[in-house]
Amino acid sequence: MVGAVITEGGVIVAEGFHAAAGQPHAEVMALRALGRAPQADAILHVTLEPCCTHGRTPPCVDAILRAGLRTVVIGATDPNPAHAGKGVQLLRAAGVAVVEGVLGEECAELNFLFNHWITVGRPLLALKVAATLDGKLVPAPGESRDITGPAARADVHRWRRLFPAIAVTADTLLADNPRLTARDADGEHAPVRFVLDRRFRSAGRAGLNLFTDAFRGHTIVVGLAAGARAADLAWYEAEGVTVWALPGEEVDFLDAWAERCATEGLTGVLIEAGPRFASALLREGAADYLFAYVAPRLGGDPESPTWFEGVDFPLMAGKTTLFGQDALFRGYLG
Ligand SMILES: NC(=O)c1ccc[n+]([C@@H]2O[C@H](COP(=O)([O-])OP(=O)(O)OC[C@H]3O[C@@H](n4cnc5c(N)ncnc54)[C@H](OP(=O)(O)O)[C@@H]3O)[C@@H](O)[C@H]2O)c1
Repeated sequence: MVGAVITEGGVIVAEGFHAAAGQPHAEVMALRALGRAPQADAILHVTLEPCCTHGRTPPCVDAILRAGLRTVVIGATDPNPAHAGKGVQLLRAAGVAVVEGVLGEECAELNFLFNHWITVGRPLLALKVAATLDGKLVPAPGESRDITGPAARADVHRWRRLFPAIAVTADTLLADNPRLTARDADGEHAPVRFVLDRRFRSAGRAGLNLFTDAFRGHTIVVGLAAGARAADLAWYEAEGVTVWALPGEEVDFLDAWAERCATEGLTGVLIEAGPRFASALLREGAADYLFAYVAPRLGGDPESPTWFEGVDFPLMAGKTTLFGQDALFRGYLG
């Protein structure tokens, strides 16, 4: 996600943004929107360092120089190790004044999934929980199923829309029958919807939204190939649901899944875990990022563990946002 604005005399005269992979970049769209040569005092402001190589589109550095722009203000540096800083160097070498790092953190955050994927080569695995103050993810019997209030839940839908994939375990699938769609004013959108189900326990379970709704083609059940029954795999196929039967042992499951996500080009997965899986992810250091929504409630289901059983929690850097009475803490783990 990249945006660009051209100003002349401090007034915005053109704007552009990058609509999709393979489409012209934000700088080029802003220049096109201007539709004429920029004035001598024109400044291009762009959220990401202009590219300097031929990808699917020609380099933006060339377009900037051709247009005669003499000042460029940049938010974030390009995280791609093949490009980082080179666009700035080329502009400066051509005599363009470049100001870097303006709202740099905010601009980098626009692309935090892509940035992780391009630097680490794997999807960002983000654990999301909605918890009571005493660390419960499951409300006491008879209490409202929703732990957090409407504003926090709407925020979850915004993140669901940003992530290319969401994951739940078979246990959560069978307990909650979730839809795992992003629902907002624009309607309902489905990312890839993973069911993490090492032994394909969800096979044959009729009536579940993920296996029957209009987006069932977005559902992928992930299990272990070893021990998988052909009849179970055939059942998913008949439902129109994709199966990833991964090679390897139980202990390698999360790693094998993340590798497969990387080869499929998925930049991030929002894992909406129940307490046992959340604790396992944290203990194994398998999650990269945490979204913890905490509501001012005490006393969840006494039978259900906390989401951090056996976890030695380090202090984390991140940010806290309030949604009514609920707080979201989010940040990198480890
Ligand atoms: N408030 C929230 O944020 C929230 C979010 C989601 C769910 N929930 C609630 O949580 C409850 C379900 O919680 P739960 O504790 O029963 O289930 P869970 O934590 O969602 O899933 C537990 C399952 O995860 C799998 N698992 C555990 N460790 C693993 C590992 N290292 N690698 C791969 N898979 C692993 C195991 O299944 P296999 O051995 O079969 O693979 C295990 O049975 C439901 O009531 C639901 O409503 C709350």
